[in-house]
Amino acid sequence: MKSLSYLNKYFFKYKWQLLLGILFTFGLNYLYVQMPVIVGSAVDTLEDNFDPENWLNIALTMGGIYIAFSLGKGILLFFQRQMIIKMSRYIEFDLKNEIYAHYQRLSYSFYKRNSTGDLMNRISEDVAKVRMYLGPGVMYTVNLVILFAFVLYFMLNTNIELTLYVLAPLPLMSFLIYKVSSTMNRQSEEVQREQSRISTIVQESFSGITVLKAYGGESRFESQFNTSSDSYLKKQMNLVKTNALFMPTITFLIGMSTVLTIYLGGVLSAEAQSTLSSGNILTFIFYVNMLTWPFASVGWVTSLVQRAAASQERINEFLQEQPEISNPTQEPFQFNGKISFNNVSYTYPNSGIQAIKNLSFTVEKGQTIAILGRTGSGKSSVINLVMRQFDPTEGSISIDDQPLSSINVEDFRNQTGVVPQEVFLFSDSIRNNIKFGLNEGEDRTDEELDEIMKVAHVYHNVTDFPDGLDTLLGERGVNLSGGQKQRLSICRALIRKPKFLILDDCLSAVDTETEEIILNNLKGQIQDNTTLIVSHRVSSIRYADKIIVLEDGEKIEEGSHEELLAKKGVYHEVYQKQLLEGEQTENKD
Ligand SMILES: Nc1ncnc2c1ncn2[C@@H]1O[C@H](COP(=O)(O)OP(=O)(O)OP(=O)(O)O)[C@@H](O)[C@H]1O
Ligand SMILES: [Mg+2]
Repeated sequence: MKSLSYLNKYFFKYKWQLLLGILFTFGLNYLYVQMPVIVGSAVDTLEDNFDPENWLNIALTMGGIYIAFSLGKGILLFFQRQMIIKMSRYIEFDLKNEIYAHYQRLSYSFYKRNSTGDLMNRISEDVAKVRMYLGPGVMYTVNLVILFAFVLYFMLNTNIELTLYVLAPLPLMSFLIYKVSSTMNRQSEEVQREQSRISTIVQESFSGITVLKAYGGESRFESQFNTSSDSYLKKQMNLVKTNALFMPTITFLIGMSTVLTIYLGGVLSAEAQSTLSSGNILTFIFYVNMLTWPFASVGWVTSLVQRAAASQERINEFLQEQPEISNPTQEPFQFNGKISFNNVSYTYPNSGIQAIKNLSFTVEKGQTIAILGRTGSGKSSVINLVMRQFDPTEGSISIDDQPLSSINVEDFRNQTGVVPQEVFLFSDSIRNNIKFGLNEGEDRTDEELDEIMKVAHVYHNVTDFPDGLDTLLGERGVNLSGGQKQRLSICRALIRKPKFLILDDCLSAVDTETEEIILNNLKGQIQDNTTLIVSHRVSSIRYADKIIVLEDGEKIEEGSHEELLAKKGVYHEVYQKQLLEGEQTENKD
């Protein structure tokens, strides 16, 4: 339960709402406990001095008072809920914002360690469970305590012995309801888990429809779906059974307490010296009925609080997570253009793979450096290191001769344009997808966008779409070809006029001819900028000032295109092979 204490700061924030809520609860229960007294005294008055002339007046007056009290109670009940349930919704809203803001601060490695589903669950389902504690949990508890105190006071004032007898079974009822609700909660969690399994199957079968159709996987998915559905049905049926038990159990227990009250009340009032009237017994029956539901809710609230505590613990686990990379300083940083790696090694903590081994190189302002290497040789890892997505295991990286770990990394990233290997486009218009590259507060006109699209050689594609820049991408939008996506991704990097441009194999999906055009266009754009190009095609990188050949995370060659050719090493070999392949494809055309 300790985890829930995290929420106390929110109770404090909304203390007035909570206090008013408690005040209304007092008011409504005060009216509520008077109502049985009215009925009791009405019965006693009519029974003891029955007046054939006047009885209707008395009955109507008493009825009128009863209705007035009910009305008052109803109004206060409305305000009680307005205060407490609204408070719980406000806290839910704040908590979701807090979690989301925290997620945004966490580093790349956090997202590698935790699944998207898990991240989503903690911010939605877990928060919803916590909300049940904040709203109904708090409300029913406050209500029970106040009501019980009032009722107990009135009952003891009427008859102590009968009070003790009729209250005795209530704790047993709480316990029974607790057992039933715990079972219900467990079963509904099983149902939820099965539900999310079904959603995953369905979602994968839709998003992977191309592969599914090509491999004739329809029946495989169908049988997976059926198995899951069957299991879902069974679990749902179990839940329905327990659910069906819930209300009858309560009704039965309420009935039993009523019978007990009538019986014991009757026995007690029959005793010679008894002062217990029929009205008193009637009042007691009302009281017992008034208490049964709140006592039943003790069991329900207990299991609800347990669930909330478990959820809050999961939430706290993420909230306590500190970003591995945090901005060390707020001092503005102006990137001048020099980058150097000094004996950098990096091992991925989750896989234990040493992706970079003792790598050193330097790029001066305005230079273009290229990294060539086979798949898995560590090229993208170099980029992640230079962007400080994670820190080197050994060695250090310097930016303008200052350690990367000591500069304002947000500023540095804002001056860098990265075109990642895996293109990601948002379900939004082409215009907004490109403008995503802008830093806060910046804007560009459509003409400027056109210029950038011409550089990335995608202008003619976009103008071919009937909606041009407004064309929607994503699931319900147009499907772009791999090469078109890559070129839009280049636009996104160029629009921010970066001082440092990083291209991670971002021309792999375009033909060599288009590649040539884009690289030529880029040359005009990046004259003064430092550029890092990653590729496994020699054609993309031969104009670079410096080329590094990586193999298994190690630098095996370094030099310009000409120098490396003269060396007749690995680079030369790759060049010859690709030249040959190029000629073969050309001959085919
Ligand atoms: N997030 C990760 N967690 C664990 N290991 C990783 C991770 N990313 C990459 N690796 C491993 O690090 C090594 C280098 O990967 P990297 O992505 O840097 O290669 P690459 O040269 O960019 O390859 P490609 O040309 O295919 O893009 C690989 O063996 C890969 O399996
Ligand atoms: Mg890569």
